[in-house]
Amino acid sequence: MAKDSLPHFNDQATRKECVVKNYSRRIAHVVLILGLLCIGYRYYYLPLQSTGPQPTRYCNKPLQSLSSSRLESFQQCSIDNLLNTGLYFLDTASPISVADYEERRDRLASALVADGVDAFVVEPGYTFKYYANVSQPEWEVWEPEERPFLMIVQPTQDQKTGEIKANTSFLCPSFEAERALLLGMPFSEPIQIIPWEEHWNPYSTLMESQAISSQNGTPRLMVDEEMRDFIQRGLSSAGFDVVGLKGRVEQVRQTKSESEVGILRAVNTGTVEAVRQMRKCLYPGLTESEITEVLDNTLRAAGLEPFFDIVLFDENAANPHGGTNGSKVLEAETFILIDVGAHLYGYSSDICRTFFPPFFKKPSCGASTPEHIKEKLKVQPLLFNAEPLLTTTQVWDIVFEAQTQSIHQMRENSTAASTDIAARDVISEAGYGETFTHRVGHGIGIKAHESPYLNKGNVNTLLKSGMTFTSEPGIYLVDNFGVRHEDVLLVQGHDEPVLLTGTRAGGPWDP
Ligand SMILES: *[C@@H]1O[C@H](CO)[C@@H](O)[C@H](O)[C@H]1NC(C)=O
Ligand SMILES: *[C@@H]1O[C@H](CO)[C@@H](O)[C@H](O)[C@H]1NC(C)=O
Ligand SMILES: *[C@@H]1O[C@H](CO)[C@@H](O)[C@H](O)[C@H]1NC(C)=O
Ligand SMILES: *[C@@H]1O[C@H](CO)[C@@H](O)[C@H](O)[C@H]1NC(C)=O
Repeated sequence: MAKDSLPHFNDQATRKECVVKNYSRRIAHVVLILGLLCIGYRYYYLPLQSTGPQPTRYCNKPLQSLSSSRLESFQQCSIDNLLNTGLYFLDTASPISVADYEERRDRLASALVADGVDAFVVEPGYTFKYYANVSQPEWEVWEPEERPFLMIVQPTQDQKTGEIKANTSFLCPSFEAERALLLGMPFSEPIQIIPWEEHWNPYSTLMESQAISSQNGTPRLMVDEEMRDFIQRGLSSAGFDVVGLKGRVEQVRQTKSESEVGILRAVNTGTVEAVRQMRKCLYPGLTESEITEVLDNTLRAAGLEPFFDIVLFDENAANPHGGTNGSKVLEAETFILIDVGAHLYGYSSDICRTFFPPFFKKPSCGASTPEHIKEKLKVQPLLFNAEPLLTTTQVWDIVFEAQTQSIHQMRENSTAASTDIAARDVISEAGYGETFTHRVGHGIGIKAHESPYLNKGNVNTLLKSGMTFTSEPGIYLVDNFGVRHEDVLLVQGHDEPVLLTGTRAGGPWDP
């Protein structure tokens, strides 16, 4: 079979190559002929034509080069503005150290004791990255590996001090053990590997190694939320008692350390600052996609790596996550919504601002507002809200007040639900309840969206000091516009939460 199929593949490849070659030869011919025609036109036909309009449209692209140089100066303006801030926001961030990773694993060990579990098991992914700095693609770039490579964390008691410490080992394919060591995982002690050969059952290997000690004979494992189903089933059939992520163990990653808060503050404040500095450079005629590109490059200039960037104009913003193709053009009175996230040292920002461009001047108090601007600021009536009582800017204010009320709820021992309900009450009282179609927020850390999730159904989860959340209420008016304000906050005991985005928006002309 293999012998037959090899030449067959070669044939296919050769034929494909021929087709491509013929095709490119034909294109080359066409280009050559067009080129000759253009030259001929310029040097033969044009000199004869002394009067009349000059046909400058052929053989060059003045419009495009003009617009791209404007785009370049827009980008330069935006980057310069951000760099001119001195990148003050980066001051609170430094990379996570080996000692930080060890402290995390020790907190995990104590949580395991509190939850009555013998060991925590996780495979490369976000949680593995959190405890030992290896993401799924860092372990396996092509696709998730079917051979289990598992980190196992067990609590041990220090004989002298009595403190609970983490003891970490790795179940690893035997032939990959060397590669696992080359990952340079953050451990100050030598790494312990339990190897399994290709023809062995990895889960029975783990059981038979007796690496996991247990009080009652059946080791109880807590698996991470990202653990794939076939690995969980494998562990169960090898005789382990497998339980899902919950309790104190889940709270370990939810509760941020000082260094994590420092990075989250830097990346979120920097992302807001980038939007503000970019806004000053806007001019009419830009598309949503062009602004996305320039904002991305502005963030990169500050060392922040964007991973999503949604720029939506007017009615396109009525879909909270967009979905339109980015071709809508910026006009004087366009209402702009930007929801953007970037990474710094593996931590995420996630912020949103809704604003008018700088060349749409804020109507001044007392002065009479021109009709077309009044029309622009007027909100279309809702079916369930008979009168069009509000202006765009009033809708902006309602969302802001909803955000304020949800932030007030972000204190230790409040329920996750209460933060959502507080925002929802404000929007419902204004008559727009049905237009606030998503939850008010979510936890944020190495992932932009982390548990706990702030929705009105999450009545059993209590907020704890050290947890970080977005507050992002919105109002979405179909065919009209959308408004969302999103900031990031740190829960801090009984007090008001700490803002990690620098300053909240000041108004539709001051994002
Ligand atoms: C964690 O991994 C990143 C690369 O993903 C690396 O830049 C960083 O130095 C590592 N941290 C430690 C403490 O090894
Ligand atoms: C850590 O666990 C391994 C495997 O169970 C064991 O061999 C080792 O002695 C433990 N180390 C400590 C310091 O408890
Ligand atoms: C983008 O969407 C608009 C509005 O639906 C449409 O008119 C336009 O042709 C689309 N452009 C591209 C490049 O798909
Ligand atoms: C939250 O509740 C726990 C358990 O009841 C309590 O120990 C803690 O002091 C409370 N926190 C605050 C800030 O009141």
